[in-house]
Amino acid sequence: MSNQQDHTLDLSIQRYEPLVSVRWTEHYELELLDQRLLPTQIVMERLTEVSQVWHAIHDMVVRGAPAIGIAAAYGVVLGALNDKAASPLEWLKSVNTHADYLATSRPTAVNLFWALDRMRNRASQLMTVSNIAVASLNELLLEEAVLIHQEDEEVCRQIGEHALSLFHDGMGVLTHCNAGGLATAKYGTALAPMYLAQERGIQLKVFADETRPVLQGARLTAFELQQAGIDVTLICDNMAAMVMQKGWVQAVIVGTDRVAANGDVANKIGTYGLAVLAKAHGIPFYVACPTSTIDLNTSSGELIPIEERHEREITEAFGSRTAPENIKVYNPAFDVTPNEYVTAIITEHGIVEPDYVTSLQDIMKRAALPIAD
Ligand code: MRU
Repeated sequence: MSNQQDHTLDLSIQRYEPLVSVRWTEHYELELLDQRLLPTQIVMERLTEVSQVWHAIHDMVVRGAPAIGIAAAYGVVLGALNDKAASPLEWLKSVNTHADYLATSRPTAVNLFWALDRMRNRASQLMTVSNIAVASLNELLLEEAVLIHQEDEEVCRQIGEHALSLFHDGMGVLTHCNAGGLATAKYGTALAPMYLAQERGIQLKVFADETRPVLQGARLTAFELQQAGIDVTLICDNMAAMVMQKGWVQAVIVGTDRVAANGDVANKIGTYGLAVLAKAHGIPFYVACPTSTIDLNTSSGELIPIEERHEREITEAFGSRTAPENIKVYNPAFDVTPNEYVTAIITEHGIVEPDYVTSLQDIMKRAALPIAD
């Protein structure tokens, strides 16, 4: 990708300003923070083509379930703008084609498909407006993408409020991967209670798993929490058991890419092991997510498509080869934690507990209701 704004980060002089991972500009361009380069470089990619958005999602310039959905929604708008359709019907076809294309960028996070469905539905709805110009259709479609983006910030704040009700001053909390502001519009899901705790003077001691192989915990979670002045300690994934054994952790909280109808949870590889460890140590294991991550159409975790990524993520590190040539590699990006390990799922509409088949249906009904004033 060409249009870059490159700033090498000087941590010594940087004042805390939460980094924004997705931004729509007044010039009708999409800006994405290149998360692959953090924590040493802050580079905003400027995107004007739907194919650039596809690659940005696929190559993890933008990553984290909600942020992927937001970026894809803007991607549909870019595609429709560039197509310059001659009629509303042609415009609708173009919107659907771009949505179908973007849906092939990554398979696991259901927020991607949720956001694209919202864009498709809004486009179909707009077909009922008579004599509408294509330029107006584009503007109204952009409004939907902006809404998806803005709603996510408030949703994350609500998740944080509910999650914080489970935490208390001085508590040790362990998290995996990055489910923070970088993965969402703001606050994050699993990290939202940490930001709210800090606003209110509640001290939490956060442990961040480094999260092999892409190191979202070290590069992103440790970075964004440290920048915010939150007490965070970075550990390797294989240290979580010992940290629990020492009694330093009273809760585990993670994000998720998809929750199945029975409460099975897909999240970054390593999450399942952490859940088993938490159970063995009698520590609650919480999952924080917007209701847009709950997929009632997928009955159980074994039906969730799990992305497998390039072997290079495992055979190379620190710029050099760390495994023998021609070694066989298995590199699933996510795993599924069975529902029996999940103490509760924390959403913007409240905390969901087992039996998940019933409680998830109830929360989704609540999510569908119009918001009371
Ligand atoms: O491969 P990634 O970095 O996109 O994986 C991200 C995660 O697994 C997050 O925990 C999940 O998307 C929740 S983000 C609020």
